[in-house]
Amino acid sequence: MEYLIKQYPLEQGALEIQYIEEFFGEFPRKKTAAEILRRLEGREHLLLMAEAPLPEEPGNIVPVAFKVVHELRAHETDPKLHDLVARLNGCVTFDDRKVLYTWIGGTRRDWRGQGHFRALTEESESWAFACGFHEVLVKTKNKFFEMRGTLDHLRFEVIRFEPNPADNGESKVYLSKRLDASVLDAHRSARTVVQV
Ligand SMILES: CC(C)(COP(=O)(O)OP(=O)(O)OC[C@H]1O[C@@H](n2cnc3c(N)ncnc32)[C@H](O)[C@@H]1OP(=O)(O)O)[C@@H](O)C(=O)NCCC(=O)NCCS
Repeated sequence: MEYLIKQYPLEQGALEIQYIEEFFGEFPRKKTAAEILRRLEGREHLLLMAEAPLPEEPGNIVPVAFKVVHELRAHETDPKLHDLVARLNGCVTFDDRKVLYTWIGGTRRDWRGQGHFRALTEESESWAFACGFHEVLVKTKNKFFEMRGTLDHLRFEVIRFEPNPADNGESKVYLSKRLDASVLDAHRSARTVVQV
């Protein structure tokens, strides 16, 4: 199978992501286009979306999965990112290295298990390697079993577990993948990437 991936410029991509997130019932707090713009403006980022046919109407191609990654710096002024960097202290080296953060992403339920998220992840890793990034980080929660299982298959390593004493499902799991040529060699998806 050849995956169709669209790479969006910031403003249009932010709107597309706001739209696709409406299909994710499990996301408690959906991101608005304004929030996405605020986060990504002024930093390296990549907005990707996978498209596929509607099963009952194969001529109709719709967005089915997305992924947003961005640069994370040692000194962040945004309070959330500042907090994230502080929590990664001792687990991630920022000095003279480019670190990429996987912020948001997912696949619509009816298209899960078909490789769309692997294709998006592999495309983001190829892009990141070409841009000189050294490491990709991602954060999830203990209770997100699908995401944890997927990140396991995609060969992310756990670098930190942050327990939530009140509710272990809410405990945070931080994972990472060092980027080198061997990561790209392990890629399996055939992809067509269209710049919007
Ligand atoms: C996690 C998620 C993105 C996976 O998307 P997907 O398009 O179904 O993933 P893919 O089909 O590309 O699968 C990628 C790999 O993960 C594995 N995988 C997918 N879903 C899995 C699951 N539920 N459990 C274990 N492994 C899984 C696949 O087998 C595949 O491995 P392989 O390529 O080695 O065979 C999707 O289930 C999702 O959007 N879930 C909700 C998102 C979420 O929980 N977000 C919380 C915030 S982090």
